[in-house]
Amino acid sequence: MAQTRWWQRGIFYQVYPRSFQDSNADGIGDLDGIRARLDHLVTLGVDAVWISPIFPSPMADFGYDVADYCGIDPMFGDLDAFDRLVAEVHGRGLKIVLDFVPNHTSDQHPWFAESRAARDNPKRDWYIWRDPAPDGGPPNNWMSNFGGPAWSLDAATGQYYYHAFLKEQPDLNWRNPAVRAAMHDVLRFWMARGVDGFRVDVIWHLMKDAEFRDNPPNPEYAPGDGDIRRFLQTRSTDQPDVHDIIAELRAVIDEYEDRVLIGEIYLPIDRLVAYYGENLEGAHLPFNFQLIHASWTAPQLAALIAEYDAAVPEGGWPNWVLGNHDQPRIASRIGAARTRVAAMLLLTLRGTPTLYYGDEIGMENVPIPTQEAQDPWEKNEPGLGLGRDPERTPMQWDASPHAGFTNGRPWLPLAADFATRNVAVQMQQPTSLLNLYRDLIALRRAHPVLHAGTYRKITALGDVLVFLRESAAECVLVALNLAGNAQEDIPLPPGTLGQVLLSTEPGRAERVEGHLSLRPYEGVIVALDARG
Ligand code: GLC
Repeated sequence: MAQTRWWQRGIFYQVYPRSFQDSNADGIGDLDGIRARLDHLVTLGVDAVWISPIFPSPMADFGYDVADYCGIDPMFGDLDAFDRLVAEVHGRGLKIVLDFVPNHTSDQHPWFAESRAARDNPKRDWYIWRDPAPDGGPPNNWMSNFGGPAWSLDAATGQYYYHAFLKEQPDLNWRNPAVRAAMHDVLRFWMARGVDGFRVDVIWHLMKDAEFRDNPPNPEYAPGDGDIRRFLQTRSTDQPDVHDIIAELRAVIDEYEDRVLIGEIYLPIDRLVAYYGENLEGAHLPFNFQLIHASWTAPQLAALIAEYDAAVPEGGWPNWVLGNHDQPRIASRIGAARTRVAAMLLLTLRGTPTLYYGDEIGMENVPIPTQEAQDPWEKNEPGLGLGRDPERTPMQWDASPHAGFTNGRPWLPLAADFATRNVAVQMQQPTSLLNLYRDLIALRRAHPVLHAGTYRKITALGDVLVFLRESAAECVLVALNLAGNAQEDIPLPPGTLGQVLLSTEPGRAERVEGHLSLRPYEGVIVALDARG
């Protein structure tokens, strides 16, 4: 096996900073809070923490509307608190990855204030301004991801500006070299402060069609869908020249030693893998969200794993994600009973896993009463189930008031089950989901074949998925039962002999010879005997 880098061997853990740990009783998490909880990450065994945006922001989109790229919002702390966090993260042998939001700024960013001031302002071209259509309406049919048109008229200067998200999030013009240079300096600012890499927000949005042609209608749009689904985003996103922009970002990343560039990309596999770059000069890890949208049947999982595994270019490194702050919780998507096999799948596939805070204890979507909705998407397109508050609720640490998250009033309601589903309780239970995650992570570390070996499907019938991870040194078999009925005598390749290393269910350490039975929703990892 070739020498691997930390972001290939390691496991990422995403922290949504508003919801992880509050240290000053304002009901919102902060940097000192994250620092106070680093023990949890060490106990869990992950290698790197990615923190969603912490920069000064009016919080129209909870930090994804950045008003100053080189500061810390007072809600989260200040640069001293950030430096303390970096020092402690590194002191524990962990890495820290920040969210970089280059596609758009806040409308309160000084650059946008200048840009909108006058048509001849030197910063006018830092954003995307267009004349109205002949009828006075928006320049084209592009829709905002959060509902309504993606163009807002600035009455004073008589032009529309483009915003792929909220009107408070104007898109930067990445065709302008001055914008690119300014944003490159932002990356350098944080890397010089010790940051180990970036997760780049909506990286596939950075370039738009130079002629601003209309998007084609989406034949699959159905009433009840969000506005963004009315049209296919073929002109407004994923343009061929975005890869030049990303290569420039990568070159900046490579100015510093051993940093990582991760891209947020919601595209089908064939388009997704282009973000590695034609000669691997793109993102190190274009986020792979296939498991988020998958149906959890063995044939479908096997098909998407095979398609993805084959599509990752030679020399490119795969990765897998079960959840994030924009998607319903995995426990709610596939049902609590399957969270254990899901954890085993995530931590035994070929490629870097990313965990979302709280998934390690099986946190579920928390229903949010309408009057407590916070997410602007929910407010713009209410009642369609598009809102993201349910997966952003406070971390459940213990059974004390507000789950140990805050001494104040939490910014989103806590899950009703926090007194029984929390880190403290699950640490005490040998068979808890949390301890399964810890065991899986420890096993992945102890058996390099699990991060670096090849993947080979053995069985994908009905609800049973069996695959091998192989290297010159070792071979591990993973068998997952996705269903609630037992599976008796699953045949394994002739001559299969081995030893169960770990099961999602208690009390299993037997020898395996030729076949295997699985209990309902059980997954097992088997170390195969070395062939003589
Ligand atoms: C990304 C973020 C999401 C945010 C959007 C706009 O998809 O993950 O939370 O709302 O970009 O920045």
